[in-house]
Amino acid sequence: MKVSFKVYRQQPQEAPRIATYLLDVEPGNTILECLNRIKWELDGTLAFRKNCRNTICGSCGMKINHRSALACKENVGQEIERFPTDSGTGIPEITIAPMGNMPVVKDLVVDMTSFWDNLEAVDPYVSTKGRKIPEKEFLQTPEARSQLEKSGNCILCGACYSECNAREVNPNFVGPHALAKAQRLVNDDRDTETEARLEKYHEGIQGTWGCTRCYLCNAVCPMGVAPMDRIGEIKQDLLDRKPAHDSRSVRHRKVLIDLVKDGGWIDERKFGLMVMGDYFRDLRGLLEIAPLGLRMLTRGKFPMFFEPSQGTSEVRSLIESVQNLDNQSSQ
Ligand code: SF4
Ligand code: SF4
Ligand code: FES
Repeated sequence: MKVSFKVYRQQPQEAPRIATYLLDVEPGNTILECLNRIKWELDGTLAFRKNCRNTICGSCGMKINHRSALACKENVGQEIERFPTDSGTGIPEITIAPMGNMPVVKDLVVDMTSFWDNLEAVDPYVSTKGRKIPEKEFLQTPEARSQLEKSGNCILCGACYSECNAREVNPNFVGPHALAKAQRLVNDDRDTETEARLEKYHEGIQGTWGCTRCYLCNAVCPMGVAPMDRIGEIKQDLLDRKPAHDSRSVRHRKVLIDLVKDGGWIDERKFGLMVMGDYFRDLRGLLEIAPLGLRMLTRGKFPMFFEPSQGTSEVRSLIESVQNLDNQSSQ
């Protein structure tokens, strides 16, 4: 079958242009095989990264039909089915672009310096501080090892980082790959720095609380790491340890659950006051939201009364069931 490949070509600091390459391919051909053919048969100047050709090395991350993926994992047939487009020519098209959130070096090759620096920022190595070095190796039980399975599957391809909304708006956010690694180390029973790590992931780096829970990292990760879920596990570890007045991030989650348990949905009047004002202990926080409250009041947008939801008792019992399950599984 004929397929038209629309490939972004770009030099640093230049606007991209789209080059079109027509190939005769099989549906089972991977996108990487097609790129290789373009380079070998049609245009030797095209630049892209590759190595293992087998979803192992993480080198071939790029945007295929507008979502970040591995070129050696995705194939032509699936891409055409997932994103059918032909510009009215009857010839299916596949668009290939460089990953996002990283500057382009050339064509499909991006500069991953910030990706690696952010990984480094979470201290991504098992700490041996405070332990005697064993004669042979640090052994783990199969159960302890199984705790690391999901995050341990990361091949550092950059697909999650490329899609991350939080990273796009916050240059200090370390990214889903780094936080998945952070969670792996928190869960690693050979590491002796768990509490210090959690403190660091709480305040020391822009991470855990900066995630907007957009789910994109979970959706694109080719290895099933589900970074957003891993970030959720760090958050839960912190919420289990910290009282509500510790910080706004912690309070935000705790107040939300308390209010929903109380009234079936959120009493917005109390929510702002309790989160920003720390249950009326934080005068500065209260003053910060006073102008917003006044503006809402003058425009008739401040809810004067709160009516509990009719399903409050059901909602409460659902939350309590989940909390009980969580407690049981952590025992
Ligand atoms: S978490 Fe998944 S998407 Fe992100 S770098 Fe690792 S393997 Fe790639
Ligand atoms: S869920 Fe969080 S970490 Fe994942 S892509 Fe969205 S903002 Fe980034
Ligand atoms: S070439 Fe190694 S993961 Fe694609």
